Amino acid sequence: MDKLIIEGAVPLKGTVTVSGAKNSALPLLAACLLTSERCRIKNVPNLRDVNTMIKILRSLGAQAEFSNGEVTIEAKNIKSFTAEYKLVSTMRASFCVLGPLLGRMKRAKVSLPGGCIIGVRPVDLHIKGIKALGAKVNIQAGYVDTEAKELRGAPMYLGGAFGSSVLATDNVMMAAVLARGKTVIESAACEPEVVDLANFLNKMGAKISGQGTPCIEIEGVRHLHGTDYQVIPDRIEAGTLILAGAITQGDCFIRGAFREHLSAALDKFQEAGIRIEDVDGGIRIRPRRALKPVNITTLPYPGFPTDMQAQIMTLMSVTPGISVITEKIYPDRFMHVAELNRMGANIMREGPHAIIEGKKSLSGAPVMASDLRASAALVLAGLVAKGRTEVSRIYHLDRGYENLELKLQKLGARIWREKE
Ligand code: UD1
Repeated sequence: MDKLIIEGAVPLKGTVTVSGAKNSALPLLAACLLTSERCRIKNVPNLRDVNTMIKILRSLGAQAEFSNGEVTIEAKNIKSFTAEYKLVSTMRASFCVLGPLLGRMKRAKVSLPGGCIIGVRPVDLHIKGIKALGAKVNIQAGYVDTEAKELRGAPMYLGGAFGSSVLATDNVMMAAVLARGKTVIESAACEPEVVDLANFLNKMGAKISGQGTPCIEIEGVRHLHGTDYQVIPDRIEAGTLILAGAITQGDCFIRGAFREHLSAALDKFQEAGIRIEDVDGGIRIRPRRALKPVNITTLPYPGFPTDMQAQIMTLMSVTPGISVITEKIYPDRFMHVAELNRMGANIMREGPHAIIEGKKSLSGAPVMASDLRASAALVLAGLVAKGRTEVSRIYHLDRGYENLELKLQKLGARIWREKE
């Protein structure tokens, strides 16, 4: 297992480029199951989760090659409709092969992904959606087994207790593109990654409209064809790099960071005193003024993303004053609190709220990554802390950030990887 060593308190300077979005790339790769023709997806980040998805597609019979950020997939012969527990249990997003398999084969058996460290993660909305399309669903021995003689378009409402669901919207959209007739998804997720998937499916010949709004309409077609497509930049990586620049009083250009995907986060960053400039092709951070505490509530897009909650908590930990962060998507997503406190932060968790009393600085310490975004928060803490920080269990980070330490090194950070 690897760990990251960081010697902090170095202002970052220079230019860094954001990789392709993990949360777009994963459903896009799954969507290639919908055609027997070849698809070429560009700007795919080389991440552990992407490689897991490629393994799943191969296990189903697709041919898939990944080199130089480009994945070529040809799902001419699908030999299995079962996505096994062994692979699905390592990555929740693999559940999104359910929709395309069902759409193409009219049968899909996919292991239930189970919960994870950030809390219970049900799949009831996915199941509600595919049942509405006429599929029979049988949950047995840890698998969702579903089949349909024919899928029929239908109206449906996919809102849940915590709002819309990104992967449920993706799954249902992928099942519905080859269904007979029209599907209308109300309370659809509006995330840019859902829009990216809809745009890709349309390029394959689907008829989807309304993506990016809470009402998506899908007119079923008989056949999809192969195509080329480029994944959008990763807005969460972009936001994390912006905070890396800001927290170290740096002067950085984040190429590929786009305001239109990050407006709620940028609004809070600016309210906190970060100096942000929109520049052609990305966003520039200038050395900041004094920081101010801000209160933040995570919400589905276009609200403040839950995937940036841990990272902004690090910023608030070094912002004198009191700030309150409320987590509305995953009320238990606070594993980073104890680790940040080990570095000298003063954070108290109270149900879905974290109350942070900002300090002048943090001090380096050995800490343990618990999940993907918590790992990023600890790296940010290491960058601003005085002294040496060791972040262990960074396999979580490798699931979702492509070469993060190399990108930070390029900006002048003293960060490197060692074997534990
Ligand atoms: C996606 C992202 C993840 C992000 C999350 C929320 C991918 C690969 N992952 O995950 O990084 O943190 O969106 O922005 O795109 N829910 C239900 N029933 C369901 C499905 C979800 O109640 O059937 C709940 C979840 O427990 C959660 C909320 O809905 O409270 C949102 O979850 P969802 O949008 O589905 O998250 P994912 O799509 O799994």
